[in-house]
Amino acid sequence: MSDGAPLRAHAARALARIALDGVSLRTELAAASSGIADPRDRALLAAMLFESARGWLRWDAAAAALLDKPLPPRARELRALLVVGFVQLAVLDLPAYAVVAACVEAARLLGQPRHAGLVNAILRRFLRERAALEARLDRDPVSRHAHPRWLIDAIAADWPEQAEAILAANNRQAALTLRVNRRRTERAALLARFEDAGVAAQAPEGLPDALVLEHSQDVTRLPGYSEGWFSVQDGAAQRVADLLELRDGLRVLDACAAPGGKAAHALERADVALLALDRDAARLPRIDENLRRLGLGASVRAGDAAQPERWWDGQAFDRILIDAPCSATGIVRRQPDVKLHRRAADLAPLAATQRRLLDALWPLLAPGGRLVYATCSLLRIENQAVLAQFLDAHDNASASPLPDRFGLAAGAGRQNLPGEGGMDGFYYAVLDKSR
Ligand SMILES: C[S@@+](CC[C@H](N)C(=O)[O-])C[C@H]1O[C@@H](n2cnc3c(N)ncnc32)[C@H](O)[C@@H]1O
Repeated sequence: MSDGAPLRAHAARALARIALDGVSLRTELAAASSGIADPRDRALLAAMLFESARGWLRWDAAAAALLDKPLPPRARELRALLVVGFVQLAVLDLPAYAVVAACVEAARLLGQPRHAGLVNAILRRFLRERAALEARLDRDPVSRHAHPRWLIDAIAADWPEQAEAILAANNRQAALTLRVNRRRTERAALLARFEDAGVAAQAPEGLPDALVLEHSQDVTRLPGYSEGWFSVQDGAAQRVADLLELRDGLRVLDACAAPGGKAAHALERADVALLALDRDAARLPRIDENLRRLGLGASVRAGDAAQPERWWDGQAFDRILIDAPCSATGIVRRQPDVKLHRRAADLAPLAATQRRLLDALWPLLAPGGRLVYATCSLLRIENQAVLAQFLDAHDNASASPLPDRFGLAAGAGRQNLPGEGGMDGFYYAVLDKSR
């Protein structure tokens, strides 16, 4: 493993871009990891960035509380370095001496030699005063939950009884779940192969294709990856294939398909003729790559699902999946930067898009056909409210009841809350067409 200071400086630069410039964690992590040769350094960088993004609203408030006066705007990377330092001490439990020494040196590498002493003093004060400081941070809901105020309020309004549990679950790391490719192998066979390789995994109940790994790891190095035996996919997303009730010969539209996780699952389940559509042409190669590795085939094309006149061949679909663009408030565990980048003002436009997608695609469904609406949002405005408006306006649509195991009843559908069954927050509704 390399000397710690350059890695801390690297993490601070990346964190400043994520927390202060709105760059996505995933994009920044990929860019920041690309030049790092040692896998242990890459793993530590990922842990520092994930935990710093997850806890930014708490640990940045801690820095503000410990500083005599706020840092000037040009010291933004130093501000991020303090957060990276707190996270290593309070979350990653790294040895205090090594963390302080590496961060002090990192301040110099960030071109702030005059602030090296300040970093030293603040990190040492953090260690000394941590209990009192954390008690103080717990008094303000934003720094207590490390969630923005608008999201705390929205969750409390929609899920008053569950709000505390949701906020806590959002701040926990999610397990890594795989989906076994039935076309290539069986779950028991993959489990045995993992066991032989010393990889601990479990087959959860109620998710016939899933394996949950005991430790997070680089899945491309696991046995079977290059042969297409599995993909990464949370259990909540894997349930969608069950709701589609697929069988050979059906015509299926996946209207918001990229990067192709649910499309691939559908194709693993049955010989369906599937059109994988996505508005974002830049995301289509990911669908192609995934399908190729898994040995699956579909028509993949760019198009706005809300404008079928531009891409539809006029033949009705037996199944339509709308895995709608949404606030991603159900997957904060996996994408903690949602808490930093999403705004309350995004919700109404998202809901309008979701309604437009439903209205535009309903006429493409054959009578007797089924449409599955899914989001990784927790919020009523994107879920229950969208469905209620749609059902009011379409008398040939009926919402099919979902099994209790799909989470809590929520309007016409059901809501899995984050962490429930170890899974992500997800909303599901099934609409059947009578004529
Ligand atoms: C939740 S993601 C889909 C994830 C995908 N179903 C999977 O399982 O891998 C939503 C997708 O909707 C796409 N999208 C957003 N608006 C769209 C539109 N009007 N028409 C088609 N696709 C759209 C986005 O580009 C994004 O790829």
